[in-house]
Amino acid sequence: MKKPVLVVGGAGYIGSHTCMILAQRGYQPIVFDNLCNGHEEFVRWGVLEVGDVRDTRRVEQVIEKHRPLAILHFAALIEVGQSLADPLSFYDNNVIGSLNLLRAAIAGGVNYFVFSSTCATYGLPQSERLDESHRQVPINPYGRTKWIVEQALKDYSELLNIKAVILRYFNAAGADFEGRIGEWHQPETHAIPIAIEAALGRRTGFKIFGTDYQTRDGTCVRDYVHVLDLADAHVRAVDYLLAGGETEAINLGTGTGTTVKELLNTIRAVSGRAFPVEETSRRAGDSTSLVADNTKAATLLGWQPQYSIEDIVKSAWNWHTRHNAP
Ligand code: UFG
Repeated sequence: MKKPVLVVGGAGYIGSHTCMILAQRGYQPIVFDNLCNGHEEFVRWGVLEVGDVRDTRRVEQVIEKHRPLAILHFAALIEVGQSLADPLSFYDNNVIGSLNLLRAAIAGGVNYFVFSSTCATYGLPQSERLDESHRQVPINPYGRTKWIVEQALKDYSELLNIKAVILRYFNAAGADFEGRIGEWHQPETHAIPIAIEAALGRRTGFKIFGTDYQTRDGTCVRDYVHVLDLADAHVRAVDYLLAGGETEAINLGTGTGTTVKELLNTIRAVSGRAFPVEETSRRAGDSTSLVADNTKAATLLGWQPQYSIEDIVKSAWNWHTRHNAP
Protein backbone atom coordinates (compact mmCIF):
# COMPACT_ATOMS: atom_id res chain seq x y z
CA MET A 1 0.00 0.00 0.00
CA LYS A 2 1.59 3.29 -1.11
CA LYS A 3 1.71 6.18 1.35
CA PRO A 4 -0.24 9.24 0.10
CA VAL A 5 1.49 12.63 0.19
CA LEU A 6 0.14 15.92 -1.11
CA VAL A 7 2.53 17.64 -3.52
CA VAL A 8 1.41 21.23 -3.86
CA GLY A 9 2.93 22.63 -7.04
CA GLY A 10 3.69 19.10 -8.22
CA ALA A 11 3.19 20.03 -11.88
CA GLY A 12 6.14 22.43 -11.73
CA TYR A 13 9.83 21.90 -12.29
CA ILE A 14 11.11 20.69 -8.91
CA GLY A 15 7.72 19.33 -7.78
CA SER A 16 7.36 17.01 -10.78
CA HIS A 17 10.87 15.56 -10.38
CA THR A 18 10.10 14.99 -6.70
CA CYS A 19 6.90 13.11 -7.61
CA MET A 20 9.00 10.78 -9.76
CA ILE A 21 11.32 9.91 -6.86
CA LEU A 22 8.45 9.74 -4.32
CA ALA A 23 6.69 7.18 -6.53
CA GLN A 24 9.91 5.12 -6.75
CA ARG A 25 10.19 5.05 -2.94
CA GLY A 26 6.75 3.85 -1.89
CA TYR A 27 4.77 7.09 -1.83
CA GLN A 28 1.63 7.98 -3.76
CA PRO A 29 1.93 11.62 -4.91
CA ILE A 30 -1.30 13.59 -5.05
CA VAL A 31 -0.51 16.68 -7.11
CA PHE A 32 -2.33 19.89 -6.25
CA ASP A 33 -1.58 22.64 -8.76
CA ASN A 34 -3.38 25.60 -10.32
CA LEU A 35 -1.37 25.07 -13.54
CA CYS A 36 -0.50 28.78 -13.75
CA ASN A 37 3.17 27.87 -14.15
CA GLY A 38 2.92 24.08 -13.86
CA HIS A 39 2.37 21.73 -16.78
CA GLU A 40 -0.34 19.10 -16.83
CA GLU A 41 1.89 16.79 -18.89
CA PHE A 42 4.44 16.77 -16.04
CA VAL A 43 1.95 14.93 -13.79
CA ARG A 44 3.06 11.40 -14.66
CA TRP A 45 3.61 9.89 -11.23
CA GLY A 46 0.42 10.67 -9.40
CA VAL A 47 -3.08 12.00 -9.69
CA LEU A 48 -3.79 15.65 -10.43
CA GLU A 49 -6.19 17.77 -8.39
CA VAL A 50 -6.44 21.20 -9.97
CA GLY A 51 -6.80 23.99 -7.44
CA ASP A 52 -5.26 27.09 -5.95
CA VAL A 53 -3.54 27.19 -2.55
CA ARG A 54 -5.47 30.35 -1.70
CA ASP A 55 -8.79 28.53 -2.13
CA THR A 56 -9.37 27.22 1.40
CA ARG A 57 -12.38 25.06 0.62
CA ARG A 58 -10.68 23.37 -2.32
CA VAL A 59 -7.54 22.61 -0.28
CA GLU A 60 -9.62 21.21 2.59
CA GLN A 61 -11.63 19.08 0.19
CA VAL A 62 -8.49 17.54 -1.34
CA ILE A 63 -6.97 16.84 2.09
CA GLU A 64 -10.24 15.26 3.23
CA LYS A 65 -10.41 13.10 0.09
CA HIS A 66 -6.82 11.80 0.05
CA ARG A 67 -5.82 11.91 3.73
CA PRO A 68 -2.11 12.59 3.01
CA LEU A 69 0.54 11.72 5.59
CA ALA A 70 2.54 14.82 4.70
CA ILE A 71 2.43 17.92 2.52
CA LEU A 72 5.28 19.08 0.28
CA HIS A 73 4.77 22.70 -0.72
CA PHE A 74 6.47 23.84 -3.95
CA ALA A 75 3.83 26.20 -5.33
CA ALA A 76 5.27 29.71 -5.48
CA LEU A 77 6.22 32.54 -7.75
CA ILE A 78 10.03 32.44 -7.98
CA GLU A 79 11.43 35.08 -10.28
CA VAL A 80 13.27 37.81 -8.38
CA GLY A 81 12.80 40.51 -11.06
CA GLN A 82 9.08 39.83 -11.21
CA SER A 83 8.88 40.13 -7.42
CA LEU A 84 10.23 43.68 -7.66
CA ALA A 85 7.71 44.56 -10.38
CA ASP A 86 4.70 42.87 -8.79
CA PRO A 87 5.17 42.34 -5.05
CA LEU A 88 1.41 42.03 -4.49
CA SER A 89 1.25 38.78 -6.42
CA PHE A 90 4.28 37.41 -4.55
CA TYR A 91 2.86 38.13 -1.11
CA ASP A 92 -0.52 36.82 -2.19
CA ASN A 93 0.73 33.54 -3.69
CA ASN A 94 3.73 32.83 -1.53
CA VAL A 95 2.68 34.13 1.89
CA ILE A 96 -1.12 34.03 1.95
CA GLY A 97 -1.13 30.82 -0.09
CA SER A 98 1.30 29.07 2.28
CA LEU A 99 -0.48 30.24 5.44
CA ASN A 100 -3.79 29.12 3.98
CA LEU A 101 -2.36 25.72 3.13
CA LEU A 102 -0.95 25.38 6.65
CA ARG A 103 -4.30 26.27 8.19
CA ALA A 104 -5.98 23.57 6.08
CA ALA A 105 -3.22 21.08 6.97
CA ILE A 106 -3.73 21.69 10.69
CA ALA A 107 -7.53 21.49 10.36
CA GLY A 108 -7.20 18.26 8.39
CA GLY A 109 -4.77 16.67 10.87
CA VAL A 110 -1.73 16.67 8.57
CA ASN A 111 1.24 17.34 10.81
CA TYR A 112 4.24 17.04 8.49
CA PHE A 113 5.26 19.76 6.09
CA VAL A 114 8.19 20.10 3.68
CA PHE A 115 8.65 23.67 2.50
CA SER A 116 10.57 24.94 -0.55
CA SER A 117 12.70 27.85 0.59
CA THR A 118 15.75 29.43 -0.94
CA CYS A 119 19.25 30.72 -0.36
CA ALA A 120 17.72 34.08 -1.34
CA THR A 121 16.55 34.30 2.30
CA TYR A 122 20.21 34.87 3.31
CA GLY A 123 20.62 38.04 1.27
CA LEU A 124 24.18 39.25 0.83
CA PRO A 125 26.64 36.49 1.77
CA GLN A 126 28.97 37.15 4.68
CA SER A 127 31.16 34.10 4.06
CA GLU A 128 32.41 31.96 1.19
CA ARG A 129 30.09 29.06 2.06
CA LEU A 130 26.73 29.70 3.69
CA ASP A 131 25.51 27.46 6.46
CA GLU A 132 22.01 27.53 7.95
CA SER A 133 23.01 29.85 10.79
CA HIS A 134 24.06 32.57 8.33
CA ARG A 135 22.06 35.74 8.99
CA GLN A 136 18.85 36.01 7.00
CA VAL A 137 18.38 39.46 5.49
CA PRO A 138 16.69 38.96 2.12
CA ILE A 139 17.25 41.71 -0.44
CA ASN A 140 14.11 41.34 -2.56
CA PRO A 141 10.38 40.62 -2.08
CA TYR A 142 10.77 37.05 -3.35
CA GLY A 143 13.30 36.22 -0.64
CA ARG A 144 11.23 38.02 2.00
CA THR A 145 8.07 36.04 1.17
CA LYS A 146 9.99 32.80 1.72
CA TRP A 147 11.57 34.13 4.91
CA ILE A 148 8.16 35.09 6.33
CA VAL A 149 6.78 31.59 5.77
CA GLU A 150 9.89 30.13 7.41
CA GLN A 151 9.11 32.21 10.54
CA ALA A 152 5.47 31.08 10.56
CA LEU A 153 6.60 27.46 10.28
CA LYS A 154 8.93 27.86 13.24
CA ASP A 155 6.13 29.40 15.37
CA TYR A 156 3.59 26.79 14.28
CA SER A 157 5.95 23.97 15.06
CA GLU A 158 6.62 25.34 18.54
CA LEU A 159 3.01 26.17 19.36
CA LEU A 160 0.94 23.81 17.23
CA ASN A 161 1.21 20.20 16.24
CA ILE A 162 3.30 20.78 13.09
CA LYS A 163 6.76 19.51 12.20
CA ALA A 164 8.46 20.99 9.19
CA VAL A 165 11.58 20.63 7.10
CA ILE A 166 12.48 23.90 5.41
CA LEU A 167 14.69 23.22 2.39
CA ARG A 168 16.76 26.16 1.21
CA TYR A 169 17.67 25.48 -2.40
CA PHE A 170 20.67 26.95 -4.09
CA ASN A 171 20.45 26.94 -7.94
CA ALA A 172 18.18 24.11 -9.05
CA ALA A 173 19.18 22.87 -12.51
CA GLY A 174 19.20 19.85 -14.83
CA ALA A 175 16.42 17.44 -15.72
CA ASP A 176 15.21 13.86 -15.71
CA PHE A 177 17.86 11.86 -17.65
CA GLU A 178 15.15 10.33 -19.85
CA GLY A 179 14.05 13.82 -20.91
CA ARG A 180 10.39 13.36 -19.94
CA ILE A 181 10.30 16.43 -17.69
CA GLY A 182 12.63 19.38 -17.30
CA GLU A 183 13.01 23.10 -16.76
CA TRP A 184 10.26 25.00 -18.57
CA HIS A 185 9.55 28.52 -17.34
CA GLN A 186 7.72 31.26 -19.19
CA PRO A 187 9.47 33.61 -19.58
CA GLU A 188 12.81 31.91 -18.93
CA THR A 189 15.36 33.92 -16.92
CA HIS A 190 17.72 31.16 -15.70
CA ALA A 191 21.26 30.91 -17.03
CA ILE A 192 21.39 27.23 -18.06
CA PRO A 193 18.18 27.06 -20.15
CA ILE A 194 18.98 30.40 -21.77
CA ALA A 195 22.51 29.33 -22.74
CA ILE A 196 21.31 25.96 -24.05
CA GLU A 197 18.59 27.61 -26.10
CA ALA A 198 21.31 29.90 -27.50
CA ALA A 199 23.47 26.85 -28.35
CA LEU A 200 20.45 25.33 -30.11
CA GLY A 201 20.04 28.51 -32.15
CA ARG A 202 16.64 29.26 -30.60
CA ARG A 203 17.95 32.49 -29.08
CA THR A 204 20.32 34.99 -30.62
CA GLY A 205 22.93 34.54 -27.90
CA PHE A 206 23.76 34.72 -24.21
CA LYS A 207 24.38 37.91 -22.24
CA ILE A 208 26.74 37.64 -19.25
CA PHE A 209 25.41 39.94 -16.55
CA GLY A 210 28.58 41.48 -15.16
CA THR A 211 32.26 40.64 -15.59
CA ASP A 212 33.61 42.92 -12.86
CA TYR A 213 32.74 40.83 -9.77
CA GLN A 214 35.47 39.92 -7.25
CA THR A 215 35.60 36.28 -8.39
CA ARG A 216 38.20 34.12 -10.18
CA ASP A 217 37.07 35.28 -13.65
CA GLY A 218 34.93 38.32 -12.81
CA THR A 219 31.56 36.57 -13.24
CA CYS A 220 29.11 35.48 -10.52
CA VAL A 221 29.54 32.18 -8.73
CA ARG A 222 26.54 29.90 -8.14
CA ASP A 223 26.04 26.46 -6.62
CA TYR A 224 24.10 24.51 -9.25
CA VAL A 225 22.40 21.46 -7.78
CA HIS A 226 20.72 18.76 -9.87
CA VAL A 227 16.95 18.72 -9.60
CA LEU A 228 17.07 14.94 -9.01
CA ASP A 229 19.36 15.51 -6.04
CA LEU A 230 16.80 18.02 -4.74
CA ALA A 231 14.03 15.48 -5.33
CA ASP A 232 15.97 12.85 -3.39
CA ALA A 233 16.39 15.29 -0.47
CA HIS A 234 12.63 15.91 -0.37
CA VAL A 235 11.86 12.21 -0.07
CA ARG A 236 14.46 11.94 2.67
CA ALA A 237 12.82 14.92 4.42
CA VAL A 238 9.44 13.17 4.39
CA ASP A 239 11.04 9.96 5.71
CA TYR A 240 12.75 12.00 8.43
CA LEU A 241 9.52 13.68 9.56
CA LEU A 242 7.53 10.44 9.54
CA ALA A 243 10.28 8.90 11.69
CA GLY A 244 9.78 11.65 14.31
CA GLY A 245 12.31 14.27 13.18
CA GLU A 246 12.13 17.79 14.58
CA THR A 247 11.62 21.02 12.64
CA GLU A 248 14.80 22.08 10.85
CA ALA A 249 15.98 24.35 8.05
CA ILE A 250 18.43 22.63 5.70
CA ASN A 251 20.54 23.90 2.79
CA LEU A 252 20.48 22.00 -0.47
CA GLY A 253 23.53 22.76 -2.56
CA THR A 254 26.61 20.86 -3.66
CA GLY A 255 29.19 23.03 -1.90
CA THR A 256 30.90 23.67 -5.24
CA GLY A 257 30.67 27.01 -7.00
CA THR A 258 30.68 27.55 -10.77
CA THR A 259 31.18 30.93 -12.45
CA VAL A 260 29.01 32.01 -15.38
CA LYS A 261 32.03 31.68 -17.70
CA GLU A 262 32.79 28.16 -16.42
CA LEU A 263 29.14 27.26 -16.95
CA LEU A 264 29.28 28.49 -20.55
CA ASN A 265 32.45 26.44 -21.15
CA THR A 266 30.69 23.32 -19.86
CA ILE A 267 27.71 24.00 -22.13
CA ARG A 268 30.03 24.43 -25.14
CA ALA A 269 31.86 21.19 -24.27
CA VAL A 270 28.68 19.12 -23.74
CA SER A 271 26.84 20.47 -26.77
CA GLY A 272 29.82 20.75 -29.10
CA ARG A 273 28.36 24.06 -30.26
CA ALA A 274 29.57 27.63 -30.19
CA PHE A 275 27.12 30.48 -29.67
CA PRO A 276 27.39 34.26 -29.39
CA VAL A 277 28.19 35.57 -25.92
CA GLU A 278 28.01 39.24 -25.00
CA GLU A 279 29.49 40.74 -21.84
CA THR A 280 27.00 43.22 -20.42
CA SER A 281 26.45 45.11 -17.19
CA ARG A 282 25.37 43.61 -13.88
CA ARG A 283 21.78 42.53 -13.30
CA ALA A 284 20.12 44.25 -10.33
CA GLY A 285 19.90 42.08 -7.23
CA ASP A 286 22.57 39.50 -8.14
CA SER A 287 24.90 38.35 -5.37
CA THR A 288 28.57 37.89 -6.19
CA SER A 289 28.68 34.33 -4.91
CA LEU A 290 26.20 31.88 -3.36
CA VAL A 291 27.63 28.51 -2.35
CA ALA A 292 26.15 26.15 0.23
CA ASP A 293 27.66 24.53 3.25
CA ASN A 294 25.70 21.26 2.97
CA THR A 295 26.98 19.51 6.09
CA LYS A 296 23.60 19.61 7.83
CA ALA A 297 21.79 17.85 4.96
CA ALA A 298 24.37 15.05 5.18
CA THR A 299 24.06 14.76 8.96
CA LEU A 300 20.28 14.95 9.29
CA LEU A 301 19.07 13.42 6.04
CA GLY A 302 22.08 11.35 4.95
CA TRP A 303 21.95 13.40 1.75
CA GLN A 304 24.92 13.64 -0.61
CA PRO A 305 24.46 15.20 -4.04
CA GLN A 306 25.22 12.63 -6.74
CA TYR A 307 25.48 14.81 -9.83
CA SER A 308 28.15 17.19 -11.14
CA ILE A 309 27.79 20.32 -13.24
CA GLU A 310 28.50 18.16 -16.35
CA ASP A 311 25.62 15.83 -15.42
CA ILE A 312 23.40 18.87 -14.92
CA VAL A 313 24.24 20.31 -18.32
CA LYS A 314 23.99 16.91 -20.11
CA SER A 315 20.53 16.23 -18.69
CA ALA A 316 19.36 19.79 -19.39
CA TRP A 317 20.71 19.55 -22.94
CA ASN A 318 18.84 16.27 -23.41
CA TRP A 319 15.60 17.86 -22.21
CA HIS A 320 15.90 21.01 -24.32
CA THR A 321 16.79 19.15 -27.52
CA ARG A 322 13.60 17.07 -27.10
CA HIS A 323 11.42 19.88 -25.89
CA ASN A 324 10.93 23.14 -27.74
CA ALA A 325 8.97 25.45 -25.45
CA PRO A 326 6.34 27.43 -27.37
N1 UFG B 1 23.01 35.06 -15.79
C1 UFG B 1 23.58 35.67 -16.89
N2 UFG B 1 22.82 35.79 -18.01
C2 UFG B 1 21.54 35.33 -18.09
C3 UFG B 1 20.96 34.71 -16.96
C4 UFG B 1 21.73 34.60 -15.82
O1 UFG B 1 24.74 36.09 -16.86
O2 UFG B 1 20.90 35.48 -19.17
C5 UFG B 1 23.82 34.90 -14.56
C6 UFG B 1 23.22 35.64 -13.38
O3 UFG B 1 23.65 36.97 -13.36
C7 UFG B 1 23.73 34.80 -12.22
C8 UFG B 1 23.83 33.38 -12.79
O4 UFG B 1 23.84 33.54 -14.20
O5 UFG B 1 25.01 35.22 -11.88
C9 UFG B 1 22.66 32.51 -12.40
O6 UFG B 1 21.45 33.20 -12.69
P1 UFG B 1 20.04 32.49 -12.66
O7 UFG B 1 19.03 33.52 -13.10
O8 UFG B 1 20.08 31.20 -13.37
O9 UFG B 1 19.84 32.16 -11.12
P2 UFG B 1 19.87 33.12 -9.84
O10 UFG B 1 21.11 32.77 -9.08
O11 UFG B 1 19.67 34.54 -10.18
O12 UFG B 1 18.51 32.68 -9.13
C10 UFG B 1 18.37 31.50 -8.41
C11 UFG B 1 16.92 31.07 -8.36
C12 UFG B 1 16.09 32.10 -7.64
C13 UFG B 1 16.69 32.40 -6.31
C14 UFG B 1 18.14 32.78 -6.46
C15 UFG B 1 18.81 33.00 -5.15
O13 UFG B 1 16.43 30.89 -9.65
O14 UFG B 1 14.77 31.62 -7.49
O15 UFG B 1 18.83 31.75 -7.13
O16 UFG B 1 19.81 33.93 -5.33
F1 UFG B 1 16.06 33.42 -5.71
